[in-house]
Amino acid sequence: MAAENAALTGGKMGGIGDVIRDLPAALADLGLQITVLTPSYGSLQKLPGARALGSLQSNFRGINQKVDVWEVHGAVGTVRSLVLDHNLFMPTEPGVIYHSDDDDRPFATDANKFAFFSAGVASWVETLESTPAAIHLHDWHAGTVAALRAFEPSFERLRQTPTVLTIHNLAYQGQRPFTGDSSAFDEWFPGLDYTPEQIADPVFDCYNPMAAAIRLADRINTVSPTYAKEILRKSDPERGFVGGEGLEGDLNTAAEQHRLTGILNGCDYSMPRTRPAPWGEFLKLAKTTVGAWKAEADASVHRLALERLGQLPRRRPPHVLTSVGRVVEQKMRLLLEADNDGVTALEAVLDRLDRRGHFFLLGSGEPRYEGRLEAIAADHENMTYFRGYSEALSNELYRTGDLFLMPSSFEPCGISQLLAMREGQPCVVHGVGGLADTVQDGVSGFVFRGDTAQEQSAAFVECVANALTMRDRQPRQWRRLREQAAGQRFEWSASARQYIETVYECL
Ligand code: GLC
Repeated sequence: MAAENAALTGGKMGGIGDVIRDLPAALADLGLQITVLTPSYGSLQKLPGARALGSLQSNFRGINQKVDVWEVHGAVGTVRSLVLDHNLFMPTEPGVIYHSDDDDRPFATDANKFAFFSAGVASWVETLESTPAAIHLHDWHAGTVAALRAFEPSFERLRQTPTVLTIHNLAYQGQRPFTGDSSAFDEWFPGLDYTPEQIADPVFDCYNPMAAAIRLADRINTVSPTYAKEILRKSDPERGFVGGEGLEGDLNTAAEQHRLTGILNGCDYSMPRTRPAPWGEFLKLAKTTVGAWKAEADASVHRLALERLGQLPRRRPPHVLTSVGRVVEQKMRLLLEADNDGVTALEAVLDRLDRRGHFFLLGSGEPRYEGRLEAIAADHENMTYFRGYSEALSNELYRTGDLFLMPSSFEPCGISQLLAMREGQPCVVHGVGGLADTVQDGVSGFVFRGDTAQEQSAAFVECVANALTMRDRQPRQWRRLREQAAGQRFEWSASARQYIETVYECL
């Protein structure tokens, strides 16, 4: 069960959605019977072919709520996709899964939704004819199932069901107060007789669904072997290190109990590689995409992107740099880190590129980072910032680019680098988490490291410069590196086998 499922149109916001589409399919190919559960968000139950399976009663806020269960046909064969529908799952804006609450009430809106979703899934398990072999929880959104399983005696079948937690990103833990707020644990489950220490945040006096699941699940997995080691260490912002984010103590306990594994996510290689569109076609697609966004909201950022696209020469510049990702701290911090002269890494890269190249960045997220990207793009004719998300444009950027930039501060696994490599575009990556596990420096891409955020960003700029020099001066070596990148295989079938052998079969 998870917040996202990319097998359903409208069911994806980020990398977790891809995993929830691809991992179940790979497990099903190996003979497992999988049911994937997500909330409906008011729309998934209306997808073509959706079938009402009936309804169940789930207790939430002290009231028996009626939750409708729908079976929806996803893109993948034998996997069953179910969505739970109730008004409480309605999004705050159409088409958006997560709500960004104010800083004084972080997660409030989403925590309500996912606590209720967890209660709904727990009630659904009770309706099954037999006990499932396992229930697999993904990220904090599903963590409350572990708490209900431990403390709500009426969930008998759930209690007999082994649980697995997969951590996709420890930066989000979904903490909420125990009491004193409408989005609080005691409000959701009044009268529940629980042991606060088992579900509390290790530092603050509040409920932490990620911590609860780490302590209470039978097995914990995260999405790369390196991230599984990094999260055992305390985060150290001074040294630019993102690790356990407060949960390192619990994760060390889990590791000592042999409950923690790291299994790399996979990528889909079933489609043949296609050539990049001719330059003119690419520009046309980019203009159409931005034009459609501008028609919806006539923002300065879209006008600027169209202006940049209009200025680009008819001939492709010698170096095309690309980046696709959510515009959040994790992905943007090093790009926007300034050196002692106040020059950000991004500006340094653009200066190095000068008139010989162009940088296209696609992504949206936190307004403060979006604003900074727009300002830098406004000052540099060799950068276009596409503020939004478009599957078609991102696919074309993976195909078209010469060098993909992914200087994440931390990266549990990362998918964009796999997609870029698959299309034969080498990547410059920070040597952390899944990036370290998928890119080999000088062989299939370029890896930088550093001991503080400033050092990391300086190393990133140097790494990009070295890559461009290789491309200019050592064409044979460059071709070999590109072929190596394109030839890397991170098959879902291999990940699925590991899940079976090192997680499910150990329950
Ligand atoms: C999160 C992580 C990303 C990972 C994805 C899927 O989005 O930030 O690194 O690839 O989950 O597991």
